[in-house]
Amino acid sequence: MTTANIIDGKAAAARVLAQVKTDVAALRERGVAPCLAVILVGQDPASQVYVRNKVLRAEECAIVSIEHKLGAHTTQADLLGLIHTLNADPAVHGILLQLPLPRHIEEIAALEAISPLKDVDGFHSENIGGLSQGRDVLAPCTPTGCMQLLRDTLGDLRGLHAVVVGRSNIVGKPMAALLLRADCTVTVLHSHSQNPAALCRQADIVVAAVGRPRMIDAAWLKPGAVVIDVGINRIQDGDRTRLVGDVDFDSALPVVRAITPVPGGVGPMTIALLMQNTLTAAQRQALTDPQPEAPCLSIS
Ligand code: GUN
Repeated sequence: MTTANIIDGKAAAARVLAQVKTDVAALRERGVAPCLAVILVGQDPASQVYVRNKVLRAEECAIVSIEHKLGAHTTQADLLGLIHTLNADPAVHGILLQLPLPRHIEEIAALEAISPLKDVDGFHSENIGGLSQGRDVLAPCTPTGCMQLLRDTLGDLRGLHAVVVGRSNIVGKPMAALLLRADCTVTVLHSHSQNPAALCRQADIVVAAVGRPRMIDAAWLKPGAVVIDVGINRIQDGDRTRLVGDVDFDSALPVVRAITPVPGGVGPMTIALLMQNTLTAAQRQALTDPQPEAPCLSIS
């Protein structure tokens, strides 16, 4: 079987990371060591894996990473206290608060406490608003990674009809904003959309981000569409579990122009873009930090 129409997210991520490594080295030459603080509250097993992967990837890029593992019963006040400390620490350039949070902590209050300049997830309302206005802010990693894969596959996206399936704050909504910024015609489908398969069949680009295993099959896809599958769903397969996307890959593959696999598609790009955002945050803070004062020569 040809693999020409399978989008290689690992290779794309490796290209992003290679550039990040080069740029981190240049920043270190100037005396700035980019630093990412990662906060994990509780013991959610999937979150623990994600955090470990983020820390490992940071090390590979020579980005300093500091893990803050807090107990499941940490109070909101204690979490906000830690965030404020990290905001004020000039050695910390990026702060990532792993989601989901335990139910007793208000997610929005915690995300809003992170300084927008250090918000490497791009979830702060100031960054979300800036993204909608087309400003060059820190944008969410997964949608930014999807855009990179789409540009690698299609080049110019102008005028194409993109259908985003799902309207989450983390993926669906920022994805729609980025596609609009790239001059696509954008449709967002959600649980109340009528006849979603027929609407999706009109799309040149499909971004699936619903979190329902293999919901989208060939009947939803126009021949020649490019499909980006953001879903990471754990399903039981006999006596073991495996990962599948929101798209039924085997049914879609013969129909599409190109499609991301799960795993190995969007996932690696998300972490690569987190490293890119940490570097960008460090570069911007290094530019705005007050430089040590030059000795003053007085001429009498
Ligand atoms: N949990 C699932 N996805 C994400 C993400 O992109 N960022 C954070 N902080 N938590 C997540």
